[in-house]
Amino acid sequence: MTSLTLETVDPTDEAALREWFTLRAAAQVHDVPDDVPPCWTDVRARLLVPVRGTAETVWLARSGGRTVGAAQIMLPTLDNPDNAMVDLLVAPEQRRRGFGRQLLEHLMDAGRTAGCKRLFVEAREPLDGGGPAPRFLTAMGGRKALADTRRRLRLDALDTAELARLRGEAERAAAGYTLEQWFGAPPEHRLDGMAGLVARMSTDVPLDDLHLAPEAWDAERLRGMEASRDARGLWRATTAAVAPDGALAGFSQVTGYATIGWFAHQSDTIVLGEHRGHRLGMLLKLANLDLVRERRPDVRVIDTYNADTNRHMIAINDALGCYPFDRLGEWEIDL
Ligand SMILES: CC(C)(COP(=O)(O)OP(=O)(O)OC[C@H]1O[C@@H](n2cnc3c(N)ncnc32)[C@H](O)[C@@H]1OP(=O)(O)O)[C@@H](O)C(=O)NCCC(=O)NCCS
Repeated sequence: MTSLTLETVDPTDEAALREWFTLRAAAQVHDVPDDVPPCWTDVRARLLVPVRGTAETVWLARSGGRTVGAAQIMLPTLDNPDNAMVDLLVAPEQRRRGFGRQLLEHLMDAGRTAGCKRLFVEAREPLDGGGPAPRFLTAMGGRKALADTRRRLRLDALDTAELARLRGEAERAAAGYTLEQWFGAPPEHRLDGMAGLVARMSTDVPLDDLHLAPEAWDAERLRGMEASRDARGLWRATTAAVAPDGALAGFSQVTGYATIGWFAHQSDTIVLGEHRGHRLGMLLKLANLDLVRERRPDVRVIDTYNADTNRHMIAINDALGCYPFDRLGEWEIDL
């Protein structure tokens, strides 16, 4: 097996950061050509302005004078101290030479040194299964704890008459609730309410076999998260539902990058259990779609990930016109 040298990427070392960025961009074009490329503003700021709650380290892997791969660990500093999120990649022309195994062993050592009990790693799969990542993780003793499908919505192919019909239906079912929208950070008076909803995202979504404990969120933690998103150049379009008593009942958010106009992610959507059954999920998503189209008219694609067991969310996405694009496994490796 050819041996590797691992070099920690210093966030202030622009050349090393560029190398990591270039490697990721090339691997993505090779592995999933229609995927969103990495955004330089985001990649750079993630290391320079750490997100409160995680401590992130990146290593470049060199062999024979060439950069052959990279590894990344995000250690928890606030919640879930047993779990370290990791990512690794090997340059396409360097695969099947044992580099992936060495990178993962390095990450396992780093996780153990930090006192973690398991690694979380995400692995992409084509819709019909297979692909190198799940095969690699199976060979490394990992287990898939949650299976997601990525669905894609094309904004140039929306069935606007059908969306208007769904909107009317949802508005009637949600009578008594109102909507509030913002672009960027939440208004100050909604920070506590939004922190409560973000905390519920860690308990109210299907986790299947993932070992995840509830996260603790308050206004201060959310403020820190919003500041790091601003530093990373991420725009956020948010629509929240307000119950008749004035409290937040749910929200839906779409995010996008500073340097990539055509693409956006559907991030969190939640309706609290006590407010379900009023078509608020559909209403939030439709209203937020309008906000995205108004504020970011260049967006042509919104991608969304759903656990295969999340049938209510999937039904809403199907009704909006989303179609399956590929799959993502959330894997655990015991340390
Ligand atoms: C997944 C990945 C990191 C594997 O890197 P690699 O250097 O090719 O992996 P290794 O050579 O160390 O492979 C170790 C074992 O994994 C399995 N494996 C790896 N790739 C495989 C493939 N394409 N098909 C079947 N088995 C595979 C084999 O059992 C292999 O052992 P062997 O070569 O002795 O048979 C690489 O394909 C990659 O970078 N993919 C894109 C990034 C990614 O998906 N990362 C996140 C998930 S790990």
